[in-house]
Amino acid sequence: MGLTGLFLITFLIVHASINGMIWFNDGGVTFNKWAHFMGTNLIIRIMEIGLFLGLIIHVADGLMLYFQNRSARPVKYVYTDSAANSSWYSRSMALLGTLILLFLVIHLYHFWMRTRFTGIESYGVDADGQENLYAVMKDVFQNPIVVIIYVAGCFSLFWHLLHGFKSAFQSLGLNHLKYNEVIEVTGIAFSIVVPFIFAMMPVCLHFGWGV
Ligand code: HEM
Repeated sequence: MGLTGLFLITFLIVHASINGMIWFNDGGVTFNKWAHFMGTNLIIRIMEIGLFLGLIIHVADGLMLYFQNRSARPVKYVYTDSAANSSWYSRSMALLGTLILLFLVIHLYHFWMRTRFTGIESYGVDADGQENLYAVMKDVFQNPIVVIIYVAGCFSLFWHLLHGFKSAFQSLGLNHLKYNEVIEVTGIAFSIVVPFIFAMMPVCLHFGWGV
């Protein structure tokens, strides 16, 4: 879980950095250029297979853990004060992960399916003559319900990361009394900043703020 989790965290950094180029105020030219590079470069395409494998392993491992934990105690305790021993989000990783998975199915249908399979030619080209993924994003986020689904997806990601970030280091045995505080603070900052940047994308594209 820890290894695939950290791998997916790395993907989120790259994804947020490239998507953040929508705020360059250049009609999506820089964003489209990078998105095109990511979609056509052979090495990146091979890494994409790794990304999907990582995602599948992370989900399968998580579900296995969840069911193992449940079957380890088929008869529930008469009384548990779980709030005293763990946080709500650490006990709800499976639920949050499932919500993120639902979000991902909708998300891949919106963009990945189009860029890889059904095509985005109908959106024309940008000022640089490049295929216009930026125009697809603007179009998708005209629908306020889609914006709400994306913001909710980012919120689930925030809760999931809040526990998952530090947990990944612990699972890999990379925790140490000396560094635990740094890991914890970095994890909290990451869990807030990255999902917030993602959530602002559909919002800004919908309202035309800075894009
Ligand atoms: C909320 C704001 C987000 C926006 C506007 C956004 C936008 C996009 C776009 C435009 C693509 C297509 C790139 C391409 O095919 O060239 C894409 C792909 C993808 N996104 Fe997102 N994304 C967002 C959040 C997320 C989050 C939070 C996750 C993960 C939890 C995620 C996971 C993915 C994956 C797995 C792909 C496919 C990667 C690939 O093309 O290899 N995205 N996203």
